[in-house]
Amino acid sequence: MAEEVQGQAAEDSDSSESSEATIAVHWREEGLLLPPPKFIGQANASDPAILDRFAEENFPECFREYADLLDWDEYWHTTLDTSNAPFWRWFTGGKLNASYNCVDRHLAKHKNKAALIWVPEPEEAPHVVITYQELYRQVNEFAALLQEAGVKAGDRITLHMPMVPELPVTMLACARLGAIHSQVFGGFSGGACGHRIADSGSKILITMDSYYRSGAVQDHKVKADEAVEAARKEGTEVEKVLVWRRFPGQYSSETPMVEGRDFFVDELLADHRGAVVAPVSMDAEAPLFLMYTSGTTGRPKGCQHSTGGYLAYVAGTSKFYQDIHPDDTYWCMADIGWITGHSYIVYGPLSLGTTSVIYEGTPNYPDAGRPWRIAERLGVNIFHTSPTAIRMLRKVGPDEPAKYDFNFKHMTTVGEPIEPEVYRWFYNSVGKGKAVIVDTYWQTETGGFIGTGLPAMNPMKPGSCGPAALGIYFDIKDEDGESIPKGSGKAGNICVRNPWPGVFETIWGQPDRFVSTYFAKYNKDPDSKDWHDWPYFAGDGAVQAEDGYYRILGRVDDVINVAGHRLGTKELESSALGVEEVAEAAAVPVIDDVRGRAVEMYIALKPGIEPSPEIEAKVKKAIETDIGKIARPQNIWIVPDMPKTRSGKIMRRVIAATSNFADVGDITTLANPEIVEQIRHQVQNAKHARGEVPRQLTEAEEAEIKSFGAES
Ligand code: WTA
Repeated sequence: MAEEVQGQAAEDSDSSESSEATIAVHWREEGLLLPPPKFIGQANASDPAILDRFAEENFPECFREYADLLDWDEYWHTTLDTSNAPFWRWFTGGKLNASYNCVDRHLAKHKNKAALIWVPEPEEAPHVVITYQELYRQVNEFAALLQEAGVKAGDRITLHMPMVPELPVTMLACARLGAIHSQVFGGFSGGACGHRIADSGSKILITMDSYYRSGAVQDHKVKADEAVEAARKEGTEVEKVLVWRRFPGQYSSETPMVEGRDFFVDELLADHRGAVVAPVSMDAEAPLFLMYTSGTTGRPKGCQHSTGGYLAYVAGTSKFYQDIHPDDTYWCMADIGWITGHSYIVYGPLSLGTTSVIYEGTPNYPDAGRPWRIAERLGVNIFHTSPTAIRMLRKVGPDEPAKYDFNFKHMTTVGEPIEPEVYRWFYNSVGKGKAVIVDTYWQTETGGFIGTGLPAMNPMKPGSCGPAALGIYFDIKDEDGESIPKGSGKAGNICVRNPWPGVFETIWGQPDRFVSTYFAKYNKDPDSKDWHDWPYFAGDGAVQAEDGYYRILGRVDDVINVAGHRLGTKELESSALGVEEVAEAAAVPVIDDVRGRAVEMYIALKPGIEPSPEIEAKVKKAIETDIGKIARPQNIWIVPDMPKTRSGKIMRRVIAATSNFADVGDITTLANPEIVEQIRHQVQNAKHARGEVPRQLTEAEEAEIKSFGAES
């Protein structure tokens, strides 16, 4: 590795030029950090032979190595089937069950080992340890309950659950029966859950009555009623709502149960004590779950993940990139309601038989020392989180980690680009200079990491995710489809040239959108059955440095990444438009030092209606109800009119520049250029008055803001 490090002279890419098809990028190259020898000595991947095994000439058979980490009921005959391109099928002919792989197969050797350790938010409440044996019991009993409720392979079941061990139990019970779970992030509103129920055609909703968040018990069952109602409006009737109780035997929601529709899980389980349900042997390509994510239209996309390919990919990446060994205590502080939690709290770690920690609450409750006390108490040695959480913990408790006796060997950051200064605090203060960090670039669609370094082999470079993951071949393309060479200082659209087992299979119910969003851009022959003709378009801007490392610059579409969560502008806007006084709405990102990006909403009112704080409040409320608190705009600006092109399209980049105090760029093509100055005055004066003037943007941030919404 030493030579590699010396090859990294600091370079300055200021001289780079941009053309129409590329974006110029200017930043300082960061120095490298090396993994400690102690880490290298114990790492799952420390022999460079692994790079040869995954070399492109060994594709796709290289991925057998991941699939061989699983137990198969029937071995596959074809590693990659491309006959229905780009709907790739992995390990065809193979059969397996995901619940068996995450639970049953560990019993022979590790039945008394902790599979899950649950940390409730109230600090005085004891931890709950669920051994593999106990997990096996709970999964089987709940699977028996579902079976009695008529659930069978292929059915979709919507889950809207908080961070409790009953959530993985529910997921694994569905998987045991071959039913497709669709967990909706618990913080999303009932309405958002309802759309996803209708989109997937679920007849059963599984929820919990309440949970703790920031010190208070939240009524969660109320959202189930809203969800059922919202789904009904779209023509889907939920037949059963199964309600887990946060405190079994005691109902802690204000919302009444609906006779004949709502059932307490703990009561029903009494009839299934000790039940054992044989795991259903599923085809490798059978869907394991749906995970909804935002795109550029209002309708969310149900990303369909497979059983065999997905499970193989998360097992392999958990082993080599998370460096999980069976005796590690691993804590991923994400929410299971996002893809990170599915892949790297539940399926990856459990398939490897490790101990996975689940924390119910917010990281800074009751104070910013909480995560470090949990780590100290449980002996966590692998810690996985997001830049937003790191920024927040750094801001409110920069000296907290030093007060606690915990030692990480490995840390992960995921979900958004991390600034080098924030990275360095994570490395020095949280990792105490002894832990390796992997910055993992991936998406809901990709199932698992696609850009990140092997922790014992690739030095760390703050701000870059590292090289492509094993078996992934990136290509950064310009708008004309030409590859942008490394070290050119130019950014373009990052693509993956080849299929990989973790990639989603389709968008549930929208196969054309799957092809048009992710593959059409750079495909030259729609009839081709050769994977080389179907590069995967990720929708992110990126640049590759001379050393081969990738730096991800953010979304190229008009999706806003708040705290690592993608929010579609269309979804936000249609929610605002639901308020009767609102005539037009435009959502834009503002740079936020904690959450990465926050949402600002501009609205124009119907003729004759006067702006008022009540209208602002209504819009905020509508967004909270339709999407959830996470999407709540930082500001709502009621403006006299929106800047528009002559064809009437709202120019979001002009508004985004205004909100961020950036240069509004060329406005000569606007139908109403005079409005720009008026809005600037209004918004920026108000921001000055509120003390919300942002810091100077970096050039990459400025480039993102100025191209936001790509209206032309
Ligand atoms: C962004 C989360 C920079 C990116 C797993 C991507 C990142 C979107 C990183 C996916 C990273 C994710 N560095 N940007 N390490 N990881 N992103 O679907 O824009 O919620 O397209 O999946 O987050 O968000 P999603």
